[in-house]
Amino acid sequence: MAGAVIVGWGTALPDRVVTNADLEATLDTSDEWITERTGIKERRVGGTTAGLAVAAGARALERAGLHGSDIDQVLLATTTPDRMIPSTASDVQHALGIKGGASDLNAACSGFVYGLVHAHGLIALGARRVLLIGSETLSRVTDWSDRNTAILFADGAGAVVLEATAGAGQLLGWDLGSDGSARDLLYADIGGYLQMDGREVFRRAVRATVDSALRSLQRAGVRATDVALAVPHQANIRIIDAACQRLGIPMERTATVLHATGNTSSASIPLALVDAIDRGRLHRGDLVLLVGFGAGMSWASAVIRWEADT
Ligand code: UT7
Repeated sequence: MAGAVIVGWGTALPDRVVTNADLEATLDTSDEWITERTGIKERRVGGTTAGLAVAAGARALERAGLHGSDIDQVLLATTTPDRMIPSTASDVQHALGIKGGASDLNAACSGFVYGLVHAHGLIALGARRVLLIGSETLSRVTDWSDRNTAILFADGAGAVVLEATAGAGQLLGWDLGSDGSARDLLYADIGGYLQMDGREVFRRAVRATVDSALRSLQRAGVRATDVALAVPHQANIRIIDAACQRLGIPMERTATVLHATGNTSSASIPLALVDAIDRGRLHRGDLVLLVGFGAGMSWASAVIRWEADT
């Protein structure tokens, strides 16, 4: 069975910046509270899920030196499709000139890592190249008068191109899970706004992140101290802090971007990953731990050995 490696990456954010000061003007909240309790200073808002996905996907293709016609599957992780039917991946496929299969994947904020594992599966079964995108327009399902959620959620996209390789590939260990009994802790009905029990989600998020990461590390046969870069879901800096502390991974080896992006669900992990690459924090041969959790409640983690030149 063929292994896979990441050969291209790209992101896209809407132009409109909404700062904590902007939210102070319309909500009973403060920059101080939001910063202290979440780590978020500003977020981006606007666009469509397909539009952001196409922009991020095009950059990932360009970085890989490829065209849409070189891709045989596009997987779009999203909780905010533009329409019920068809998949938003169909719009992306059409816009980027991809000839192969296209489908959406919804595992909430764990969606990108779910997609990463699925993409390795597709390549193991014979696909040559998969374009994996996480794209969200959560601002459309956020009640901007609800301070419980409006301070957190935002829009953005991140993408990677995975390619078949002769050797075993980059994926060393993975873990995908879900506990459907907790599905009502964070949800949006069709046509409705996000509803969240923040405290309970927080409590479970730390545990899910740590437990899933440990399972992936164990499957990979490595220790947390071997990880050069942890790329956690960007929901709350306190969740990231607590989880990384329990795992024994210092913040110097953790990618964070949420101060500037807010929580972008499926897009948050690729946004943090690409930001770390752009800052020169990732090198060929590095061990990378990607770990997410979210509504469902779902969780997902993967340990990869970074193979691309950055
Ligand atoms: O992608 C996964 C999705 N979601 C998450 O990961 C979210 C996980 N949860 C969280 O990030 C946090 O629970 C929140 C940021 C949502 C809330 O932070 P918290 O530290 O858990 O605050 P809390 O809900 O315990 O509320 C503490 C106080 C309350 O006031 P009292 O009862 O102590 O007087 C709230 O009413 O803070 C108040 N509060 C606010 N104050 C100012 C709640 N939201 C706000 C706000 N501004 N936006």
